[in-house]
Amino acid sequence: MRIIVGITGGIAAYKSPQLVRLLRKAGHEVQCVATTHALQFVTQLTLETVSGRSLYYDLFSSANSHSTEHIALKDWGEAMIVAPATANIIGKLASGVADDALSTLMLAFCGKPMLICPAMNSQMWLSQPVQRNVAYLQSLQGVAFAGPEGGDLACGVSGVGRMCEPETIVQFFATAFGPKPLVGQRVLVTAGPTYERIDAVRFVGNYSSGKMGYALAEALAARGAEVELVSGPTHLTVSAPGVKLTRVESAREMFDAATATFPSCSAAILSAAVADYRPDHQANHKLKKNGADGMDLHLVQNPDILATLGTMKTEGQRLIGFALETDNEMQNALAKLERKNLDFIVLNSLKNEGAGFGVDTNQVTIIGRDGRTVDSPLLPKREVANLIVDTCL
Ligand code: CTP
Repeated sequence: MRIIVGITGGIAAYKSPQLVRLLRKAGHEVQCVATTHALQFVTQLTLETVSGRSLYYDLFSSANSHSTEHIALKDWGEAMIVAPATANIIGKLASGVADDALSTLMLAFCGKPMLICPAMNSQMWLSQPVQRNVAYLQSLQGVAFAGPEGGDLACGVSGVGRMCEPETIVQFFATAFGPKPLVGQRVLVTAGPTYERIDAVRFVGNYSSGKMGYALAEALAARGAEVELVSGPTHLTVSAPGVKLTRVESAREMFDAATATFPSCSAAILSAAVADYRPDHQANHKLKKNGADGMDLHLVQNPDILATLGTMKTEGQRLIGFALETDNEMQNALAKLERKNLDFIVLNSLKNEGAGFGVDTNQVTIIGRDGRTVDSPLLPKREVANLIVDTCL
């Protein structure tokens, strides 16, 4: 893609050359456009060297190849990333002010894909005028925001206001504006725990939060897939258009929803922590103690949804399962891959700190039927989801 990177005057501008390098490494052509304040933080020579193109920063310079360079660049660029974006440039765009090379180009670029990556002091970011401007820009077609993130700020305080790291910006850009390789595909995702009812007020359950499955649903939707998310009880919501959420409670309800949906899907990723067993008797009222010192709960096996989809799978459909293991991880995962007729299995080892239930991060090994393995470092679940989708679909 032909991408214009706009740089404004904030300390985070020192990261902009790295952003340009990453974009070029990903195969994009990059044109840098800077404000004069930005050039207090990063040099023209650096930006021209990393982009391989002349910098555009002076609206009236005779060095510009066109007298209306901002219009020529508006036509050249397919997308724009403004990083860092100060409160000033956000305010200018929101108010339609065009008084230098970058603000003029941004205004002309309105309607085309534009990713804004703010960086400023947290009180400035949280101030009502900036928040009003951001909310307005977010309502415009084509505009997306990445960050800011929380952390230590150059002004010595800690808070929200740091520009996202260049790697995150590149990933965000690909998700928001990159090609949508899964358009036309329908993918089933299961997520969360199941609750197996004991009586009117109690259940057998597990600690799954559903975060991994919801992140998978969003990663798939971001690539244009139509997602059927079948979720056990969680506190999570999904906002991504393209995700249809069906809430269920028990393994048998999840089984019914998943088996009904799978035939119309091109793939299924089953990340739910399904209870293997349920009480054989489920009381409709609250069970009373009635003076007993103990209680026996007899459990019967639930249907294995993944294994059932493995028997239903037809040519062209992909089936991806998870394996949550504490011992003999690889051996057990490979056995599940075979037994359940999967194309890929995502191994979650509970031995890895920061991976597994409840947390926002995960560390996985993805194993393909052909023996290919992909190991992830400890990453936010959103990024693990992207890795799984890119590897398996
Ligand atoms: N799974 C399922 N239905 C079940 C049990 C598991 O669909 N009744 C799916 C999970 O969503 C996951 C995979 O099977 O994708 C593996 O789940 P896991 O709990 O690791 O393994 P089990 O097959 O239950 O085997 P075990 O508990 O013996 O390790």
